[in-house]
Amino acid sequence: VRYLILSDIHANLEALDAVMTAAGQDGYDKIICLGDIVGYGADPNACVDRVRGIASSVIRGNHDRACAGLEDLEWFNPVAKAAVVWTTQTLTEVNRAWVEHLPRGPMAVNGFEIVHGSPADEDEYVCQVAEASQLTGYLDADVTFFGHTHLQGGFAYYRGGVQRIPPLSPDEQRRETVLDPGVRYLINPGSVGQPRDGDPRASWAVFVPEEHVVVYRRIPYDIAGAAGKIVDAGLPPILARRLEIGQ
Ligand SMILES: [Fe+2]
Repeated sequence: VRYLILSDIHANLEALDAVMTAAGQDGYDKIICLGDIVGYGADPNACVDRVRGIASSVIRGNHDRACAGLEDLEWFNPVAKAAVVWTTQTLTEVNRAWVEHLPRGPMAVNGFEIVHGSPADEDEYVCQVAEASQLTGYLDADVTFFGHTHLQGGFAYYRGGVQRIPPLSPDEQRRETVLDPGVRYLINPGSVGQPRDGDPRASWAVFVPEEHVVVYRRIPYDIAGAAGKIVDAGLPPILARRLEIGQ
């Protein structure tokens, strides 16, 4: 079975469509979504409609939770907060209710696990080796997929210590990583709709458990189109700029 792993779509329909087209050409059997379908981008309803129709397993992210009205917004910075308020007003009631009832991770999927932030806390950012090292006791499966940081790559838990898996370099579109037996992995497919690793291309991953392979992928998309919609919607213009620079 080939699992298409999507995270942090953030209401970016142009990125999601580009990823689905490219992933369709590569081939996949099931779609897994690690949360943050909405928040920041201008197409929350279209992105919810897409994901609801095609994903076999979905967990919520912190933006999904906030946009569904499940928390007060004191922890969000002013730009994120403005996007949450806009998204809450823009979501249809059917879509808002669907987002509200998304399960929280960790979720077990056929022998692997999915989380939004970390296996310990759905809101935790796992960016550094030191942070990843704290999570050794929380890894219940050989492979756990996480998002939230919008940084493609992840961490490999070797006996001698944790090693960082870097994102694709700007000239790569694809990298196959063969998973070592006896090593645990925390794998981040990167963000579909708002990459922050300095590479503005949409990110995703494909997991083939039978072959012990993770394929990291990256593809350009219509950034100008997505950015223009953000400005036209009256969302903070910095959210358009972020898409252009991948930060
Ligand atoms: Fe996110």
